[in-house]
Amino acid sequence: MSLIIFPKDFIWGSATASYQIEGAVNEDGRGESIWDRFSHTPGKVTNGDTGDVACDHYHRYKQDIKIMKEIGLQSYRFSIAWPRIFPEGKGKMNQKGIDFYDRLINELLENGIDPAVTLYHWDLPQALQDSGGWSNHDTADYFAEYAESIFKVLGDRVNKWITHNEPWCVAFAGHRQGRHAPGFTDFSLAVQVSHHLMLSHAKAVQAYKALNSKTGKIGITLNLYPIYPASDSFEDTETAMLVDGYHNRWFLDPAFKGQYPQDMLNFYKEKLNSPVIQPGDMEIIAANPAEFLGINYYFRKVVRKGNIDPVLLFDEVKPEGQYTEMNWEVYPQGLYDLLMRIKKDYNNPLIYITENGAAFKDSKPINGIVEDQDRLNFLKQHFETTAKAVKEGVNVQGYYVWSLMDNFEWAHGYTKRFGLIYIDYETQERIWKRSALWYKDVIKNNGF
Ligand code: FCB
Repeated sequence: MSLIIFPKDFIWGSATASYQIEGAVNEDGRGESIWDRFSHTPGKVTNGDTGDVACDHYHRYKQDIKIMKEIGLQSYRFSIAWPRIFPEGKGKMNQKGIDFYDRLINELLENGIDPAVTLYHWDLPQALQDSGGWSNHDTADYFAEYAESIFKVLGDRVNKWITHNEPWCVAFAGHRQGRHAPGFTDFSLAVQVSHHLMLSHAKAVQAYKALNSKTGKIGITLNLYPIYPASDSFEDTETAMLVDGYHNRWFLDPAFKGQYPQDMLNFYKEKLNSPVIQPGDMEIIAANPAEFLGINYYFRKVVRKGNIDPVLLFDEVKPEGQYTEMNWEVYPQGLYDLLMRIKKDYNNPLIYITENGAAFKDSKPINGIVEDQDRLNFLKQHFETTAKAVKEGVNVQGYYVWSLMDNFEWAHGYTKRFGLIYIDYETQERIWKRSALWYKDVIKNNGF
């Protein structure tokens, strides 16, 4: 057994998102979000679960920060609920919403935990959805205005900003597949939305840079998948390239190279009637590259030519192996392959792993602890492949485990548990899992 030690300044953290943990949806002037609307629509979320109460973190944040401190977290990634700040999406700011994040950030800093703040983790103000949401070009401007207001009030204490979390999911899970809010099923619309998301990202970066922070950095978090062809046939290889364009390059290229990949632009123009790109949009995107890449890695995709996806013409193949409760393959090598590829194709950017983790069938709490050896192994294997990539020169400077605690897992409601900490939703009790204890040791030793 070899010892794995991470670089001296490596940052160990954990991540959550507003709608998944906060609850308190009608408090202190918060407006409605598209996830309130979606989760309250019958049939959209397993068991009809909603984020109304979730982990009640809005009221229990002090207790949660205490747990973070006990684990030894050096940084905590959370998101701001836009409808708490601008209940109508724009216009008048809600001071009580700001106050909550103010308290949260101060409490983190007092406990020596560095905040990493995501501006958009999917809870768009419903009022903006009512005027087209992300399919409306103006929403990019409203996002930049919201971002700028936040930078001004919290920017003195926050040094890591993430504009968007997983724009692929917002665009395609939300507007093509319909399994996320706002629940549309229109491929052209989804591609249009993706452009407005990337534009809004660039506008927020522009607003941040104008404030000239000496210490802060702003990036974007993408859900990336290494894509492998099921065979080395020409057809499968070509298919893998296309799927890589759909999932990865479509977002990586504008964020880091200032343009959309030409093959995908051609493909969408031929098959769909989007994206419509207004004059000036690409100039803003090109002038405002992200300063770091946040990677959310969960699994790989193995693809072959087929017709399960009727437009991209591919099927997904499920290789033999271990699968999580989400039916996601456990494939730590994929993270290594992905990191090496980013280094090569995107000029070795600064990277944080902003999410990685797994849902498994854990034990029930026994004598105050939940046994979750599968999660512990999962994390260990992914830390190992990351360490290998770091050794080979990939510039990964931190790792945020998804998630600090069990929470509202979107369309799966509360049925999937990703936490290091177990939540008893009846009593709101927080119970340590074995993996949290193990993670505490990893952080203490900066390795294992
Ligand atoms: C990611 C999301 C995060 C969480 C994990 C499991 O796609 O960013 O909120 O749901 O998946």
